[in-house]
Amino acid sequence: MTTHRLVATSAMGLESIVADEVKKLGYQTQTENGKIYFEGDELAIARANMWLRVADRVKIIAGDFRATTFDQLFEQTKAIPWEKYLPVDAAFPVQGKSVKSKLFSVPDCQAIVKKAIVERLKLAHKRIGFLDESGATFKIEVSILKDVVKLSIDTSGVGLHKRGYRLEQGEAPLKETLAAALVYISKWNPNRPFVDPFCGSGTIPIEAAMIGQNLAPGYNRSFISEDWPWMSEKIWEDVRLEAEELANYDQPLDITGSDIDGKMIDLAKNNAIEAGFADLINFKQRQLRDFTTSSKDGVMIGNPPYGERIGEKETIEDMIQDMGRIMDSYPSWSVYMLSSMADFETLYGRKATKKRKLFNGFIETNYYQYWGIKLPRE
Ligand SMILES: C[S@@+](CC[C@H](N)C(=O)[O-])C[C@H]1O[C@@H](n2cnc3c(N)ncnc32)[C@H](O)[C@@H]1O
Repeated sequence: MTTHRLVATSAMGLESIVADEVKKLGYQTQTENGKIYFEGDELAIARANMWLRVADRVKIIAGDFRATTFDQLFEQTKAIPWEKYLPVDAAFPVQGKSVKSKLFSVPDCQAIVKKAIVERLKLAHKRIGFLDESGATFKIEVSILKDVVKLSIDTSGVGLHKRGYRLEQGEAPLKETLAAALVYISKWNPNRPFVDPFCGSGTIPIEAAMIGQNLAPGYNRSFISEDWPWMSEKIWEDVRLEAEELANYDQPLDITGSDIDGKMIDLAKNNAIEAGFADLINFKQRQLRDFTTSSKDGVMIGNPPYGERIGEKETIEDMIQDMGRIMDSYPSWSVYMLSSMADFETLYGRKATKKRKLFNGFIETNYYQYWGIKLPRE
């Protein structure tokens, strides 16, 4: 096996969580904006894809260098041993981006990188004619930041947020990666009750259930690198076997998802069935105002509507006020809400114990955290 330079990409603000996940897999990390670098072999590539819940993708860094002219870009790209990764029949689309760099024309950079790789492969594989690109796909990215070029190969394919359980989605579904991050930040563990009172299509409860039973997020999907000749079937078999062994299907769960909209509950139930949690997550139609519980020490996590539609704002403000009042009666419960409403704390009636800025897609939000009081151990 070879040691590769790898990078797990993440949404802004979630880097430390992804770094913790990578470390938990046994690799040392180095973090930059949206990027968590680590080194590992083919097994590491498969394990990272299988287990990272919060990362967007896992990529191989094929090379990096400074370039301010097209010649430099061409020559240094050609100097990278692409034949180590790409077989002679590889299909290799090239995508690009450039920020604050002399080489700013992305289509030109893509074309040059493509040409340099073709030249390199023809030489290495002793081909005179054209390369037919009829084999496995290697998605290459040329990314230039302040004249530093990074060339990477995507090992995930479809983004890691696609776990394979989402059949349908509601109007404003949370990305699975962000939902998992919300659960991690809350430090919820499966011995505590869990409620999402705005569950929509069920993303947060389903991610919590997967975390609670230690189910690998990638177990029910495939990855682009599974088609690569040097990522042997045995590696993937071993990684799936490891995931099967580590899954704790016997862990009891006390997870509830509720929503005012009955259609959402049907949808959430179907997604939960697809994720393998048919009866293990309790979904029910209920408006926030009717929330009651006899449990102690629970965790409530959700993303209420942000009130961006005309006429909706006042109703949502009332609802957040209700939530603050209701949750005052359950002081041992911790409440975590992701909201873009600037006056969330005023409406809720209390300053959050902690808040963390996070992006829900392009929407800037805060994750308001109200920690419950610790109960004496029984
Ligand atoms: C932003 S969406 C949540 C999306 C969800 N996290 C997902 O991944 O699909 C907000 C949800 O709150 C629900 N909702 C709105 N008002 C409510 C209320 N008063 N009580 C309970 N749910 C409510 C909506 O029906 C909607 O599904």
